Amino acid sequence: MSKSIKVFSPATVSNVTCGFDVLGFALEKPGDIIVARENASKGAHINQIIGSQNIPIDPLENVATVAANALLKHLGSGAGIEFTLYKNIKPGSGIGSSASSATAAVFATNQLLGTPIKNSFDLLPFAMAGEQIASGAFHADNVAPALLGGFVIVRSNDPLDVIQLGTPPDLYAVVIHPDLQIKTAESRKLLPKQVPLKDVVTQTGNLAGLVAGVLQHDYNLIGRSMKDVIVEPARETTIPGFKELKKAALNAGALGAGISGSGPSVFALCKGATSAQKVLDSMKSAYQNTHIQFDIYLSAINKRGTIEILD
Ligand code: HSE
Repeated sequence: MSKSIKVFSPATVSNVTCGFDVLGFALEKPGDIIVARENASKGAHINQIIGSQNIPIDPLENVATVAANALLKHLGSGAGIEFTLYKNIKPGSGIGSSASSATAAVFATNQLLGTPIKNSFDLLPFAMAGEQIASGAFHADNVAPALLGGFVIVRSNDPLDVIQLGTPPDLYAVVIHPDLQIKTAESRKLLPKQVPLKDVVTQTGNLAGLVAGVLQHDYNLIGRSMKDVIVEPARETTIPGFKELKKAALNAGALGAGISGSGPSVFALCKGATSAQKVLDSMKSAYQNTHIQFDIYLSAINKRGTIEILD
């Protein structure tokens, strides 16, 4: 029988307010699952996609196969691999849908080949190659936390330099996904080309505070630092009800809240599961007034990243 492997890769929240393109964290749920099997035809192919109709199966257009084929090419491998992709994260949701599929595919391919790449960090460029075809930009702020778990700083995309920050133990996220699609490539076009120096100073101070808060497990500092004076003002109007959602989260006790990635998902960070449940209830009732369908998740911060699932 041909070898197979099943892999889970989590959804991620990138930017985390003030860390545009350089900070992200992983969620416990949702996440994409890939079953990868050896087969006779060379390269990576999609056998079936379950859970989404709108994803290309052409190996040159699918983020999972592009990522896996980049790895196979790097290894000089003539292996054939077919993927069954269980798409649990909706494309265009702002919680790293393409990053999850690309990361799962690269991780599964490496495992199936007997882990020729020993260090997980070294899988990142291949996952980024997949992610790039979906977002139109080469950034690791979703794939790095999806692969490694916890909070991750991307100090540089090229050359790639990522730093794992871990997570404070009592930190929880609430993420609401309004049933709308925002394409990252389109959303990036809304961003300012130039930024006043005073905003850069404010943003840098907040990002430094947020990183220190995560490292020192200082929840109050995390909350004080979660302010975005550059990207959120340019994007918030693309998300109906954003201001109301943010207000509902903060009024219910969230440490901070903002746009997840390029949206439309909106996230809040909370200290403790009880507080997170209150924040979830408040965001939910705020959004029920909009008549837009939504999914809402309460999740601990995922510490493990992408993992093999044993049935
Ligand atoms: N940092 C990227 C952006 C993430 O905000 O455009 C998109 O997934």
